Amino acid sequence: MLSELDTIQLEGLTLLASVGDETALEALRVNFLGKKGRLTAVASQMRDVPPDQKAAVGAKLNEVRTALTAGIEERLLSLQAEKDAASVQGIDITLPGRPSPGATLHPLSRIRDRAIQTLRRMGFAVADGPEIETEWHCFDALNTPADHPARNEKDTFYLPDGRLLRTHTSSVQIRTMEVVKALPVRIIAPGAAYRRDEIDATHLSVFNQLEGLYVDKNVSLADLKGTLEVFFQEIFGPQTQVRFRPHFFPFTEPSFEIDIKLEVKGQEARWIEIAGCGMVDPAVFQAVSQMRGDNLFNPEEVTGFAFGMGLDRLAMILHGITDIRHLIENDVRFLSQF
Ligand code: PHE
Repeated sequence: MLSELDTIQLEGLTLLASVGDETALEALRVNFLGKKGRLTAVASQMRDVPPDQKAAVGAKLNEVRTALTAGIEERLLSLQAEKDAASVQGIDITLPGRPSPGATLHPLSRIRDRAIQTLRRMGFAVADGPEIETEWHCFDALNTPADHPARNEKDTFYLPDGRLLRTHTSSVQIRTMEVVKALPVRIIAPGAAYRRDEIDATHLSVFNQLEGLYVDKNVSLADLKGTLEVFFQEIFGPQTQVRFRPHFFPFTEPSFEIDIKLEVKGQEARWIEIAGCGMVDPAVFQAVSQMRGDNLFNPEEVTGFAFGMGLDRLAMILHGITDIRHLIENDVRFLSQF
């Protein structure tokens, strides 16, 4: 029996050397070490071995099993190494790699994301509304009379069915108040707006706005000022001066335009207009209440502030971009600077 084991070991190791792939190797393993393999067959005869030889035969059995197992393991590794080597045959791994140009976010996406992040931290949730709007959502509910210049065919893209491309994101104020179930409403809505403007360095017929709306009992002008001051200081730096200049919007009363003081190195500091805002006009709450048919936005009980700003303009100021058209041309020479 001892010599039979020697033979098995010798044969196994000899065959191992000539095995050419992993399938053949597995077959060999099964043949020698498997349940019906040759070594297992010998092991099953242990009970016929005379007691005084049992220890020696047992030891030999283990020795052969260990040797074959180790041999198979080693051969598997070398087969895998051969396969790896073959797969890179003909490839010069010392050649320098081809650089892949790193992509970055568009400056508009970046300012939008930053604005959202900042306002989310202040408790605003992101809301959404359609870009094709009804006159009611875009104008009527926002207290904008039929003869208001913004409703002119010359300024607004109308569809044949009477709907229009929203001229501002303020329509999302209405869309939101129409459906919410409870107060407070604290939302922002970034998105596209459309106007029939002559295209030049500061105007496109489609641009991007960020709307904000906060409605609850006891929202005050101080809340509006505080929120927007902090916001613009987050975006443009803590030193930034913010000024509220009385203005008019049909849907807010009082209304303001917000200017920030822009300090550009080598230039005289100047105030530039950056957003519109104000306290939601009770007429807006009235329109919403009538549409909802309930009392949640009772103009006697709730107050709110709203604001809207141009994201393109924010990006231009932030990066010193002098022509808005750069933002839509997708010229890699421009975009790769960010
Ligand atoms: N919708 C106004 C615009 O497009 C901005 C605005 C929004 C003003 C909300 C006041 C309140 O100019």
